[in-house]
Amino acid sequence: MTARSLPDFVERDVDLAARTTLALPGRAAYFAELKSTAQLAMLAREPALRTMRRFVIGAGSNLVLTGDFDGLVMKVAIGGRQLVEENDDAWVVRVGAGEDWHQLVMWTLAQGWPGLENLALIPGTVGAAPIQNIGAYGLEMADRLLSLESVDTLTGKPVPLDHAGCRFGYRDSVFKQQGWHLDGQRLITHVSLRLPRRWQARTRYAELAAELERRQLASPSARQIAEAVIAIRRRKLPDPATLPNAGSFFHNPRVSGSLAERLATAHPELPRYPQPDGSVKLAAAWLIERSGWKGRDLGRVGMYERQALVLVNRGGAHGAEVIALARAVQADVSQRFGVELTPEPIFL
Ligand code: EPU
Repeated sequence: MTARSLPDFVERDVDLAARTTLALPGRAAYFAELKSTAQLAMLAREPALRTMRRFVIGAGSNLVLTGDFDGLVMKVAIGGRQLVEENDDAWVVRVGAGEDWHQLVMWTLAQGWPGLENLALIPGTVGAAPIQNIGAYGLEMADRLLSLESVDTLTGKPVPLDHAGCRFGYRDSVFKQQGWHLDGQRLITHVSLRLPRRWQARTRYAELAAELERRQLASPSARQIAEAVIAIRRRKLPDPATLPNAGSFFHNPRVSGSLAERLATAHPELPRYPQPDGSVKLAAAWLIERSGWKGRDLGRVGMYERQALVLVNRGGAHGAEVIALARAVQADVSQRFGVELTPEPIFL
């Protein structure tokens, strides 16, 4: 982009560290905070955009900066939360992609619309939530998403997606499958959620069930579930404001039934979650802990002492240190258990 043709909301040489929760150093050559779809359309008319690398960022809570980015980073700041439909089955809420996810959860509960309570306190924006299909304590985004509105960042054309079009999987969606999250080709502007009137509490996740029992809540309300989830998360997960991190750093791996059985013979206490297709999901945190990495540092990064799956920046770390630690953990888990771990956050 030449300086002459830049829309005035595009900034140059912008620090990204403060815009990501892992707080790794990195700068963007160009940075645009987008508060409206009109601004997106203005950008799409800019010819220089076609030859430029693009990336879309929300709250930066699932992002590893490996250095500077020589293209345009688009930060979605589109706001608004609105009840757009109320019928016998559900409340339908349409939300701007730049809204904070946790605040949305608390707002819906305050309105008396249950359905998002298990996903309380997940960091990040509403628009980022469907990309990796955020999930926690037995519920995931895919369970509540009705549809979303995205825009092709090159043409400015709206591309709506229904639930099937999102092709959700475990921490996965069409955005990751197509690589749209990496090349900034698509940007989510709004998300519509369906909150069921015939709500049923989801309390089977062992840790949540235990917390509710401790609170002597046999039939908890949605708000009480949110409070229990918040308490569990505060106990185990570091607050990025005080200890920078990007949540779970690896996916929980899926292995064949036969490998899971072999591992369980050697380690009877191995947590196992059988899947409908015969494969078995294992707890990455457990594998990491048993490989000696819980609470252990390498350089200025480490695996968190209260939840081994969370990689933390002890202060001043660079992306290269994160990559080195991730590789060391992967190598040890692979050698000890024959299981390959894949990182969950996006590397830029
Ligand atoms: N465990 C250990 N050591 C640890 C932590 C956990 O052995 O240090 C064992 C636990 O005892 C348990 C199992 O590992 O048997 C699972 O642990 P936990 O319930 O804490 O959940 P997780 O599998 O580690 C996943 C999600 C989290 C989500 C929680 C709760 C992934 C990659 N992570 O973690 O999501 O909050 O379940 O539903 O699926 C995120 O994606 O960023 C995230 C935080």
